[in-house]
Amino acid sequence: MALIGSGSKFASLEAAALAAAACVDCGLCMTRTQVVFGRGNPQAKLMIIGEGPGQHEDESGLPFVGQTGALLDKILQAGNIDREKDVYICNVVKCRPPGNRAPESKEREACLQYLQAQLFYVRPKLILLAGSAAVQTILQVKDPISHIRGKWFPGENDARVMPVFHPSYLLRNDSKEVGSPKWLMWQDIKEVRKQLDILNR
Ligand code: URA
Repeated sequence: MALIGSGSKFASLEAAALAAAACVDCGLCMTRTQVVFGRGNPQAKLMIIGEGPGQHEDESGLPFVGQTGALLDKILQAGNIDREKDVYICNVVKCRPPGNRAPESKEREACLQYLQAQLFYVRPKLILLAGSAAVQTILQVKDPISHIRGKWFPGENDARVMPVFHPSYLLRNDSKEVGSPKWLMWQDIKEVRKQLDILNR
């Protein structure tokens, strides 16, 4: 992973957020209501990177606030992870792709400067990549999430990176049976909790 520790063109996380708020570097600026930069604790040891804002995020300016966000909250609560205190949450792209389509590679590239700033200034120890846009951007692999989820990959600055199912995928797969996506997510969140406890010792 070449992103963490590779520096930032911005002088601070706040400067990056201000620049993003006025960004016109890709076509998504034409259709966005608000730029959705990030939320949570910039000092957190855990970062979650999603794909991009949906309608509710575009309207509120905050990541993961719609139905998908409500499920993410439940997942975090199940792992005793406080959404405001223990985690910093952001997305690969900061503006909503129309109709919630996947962000295109030129949009992801234009937005990388902001994700780079978030990785550089938050400097998380654990990073969860929710969905394939985050996996492709950070790990630069195209493996299906089902093959690589739950595994730690090495990152720079001693960070470890784990792909996980995107909460919107879990919304479409309701079973909690052993081996189901929700059950697997529960295993992953327990592992994250364990690693956070070790880091907090
Ligand atoms: N899905 C994402 O990937 N990010 C959000 O912020 C909301 C839904």
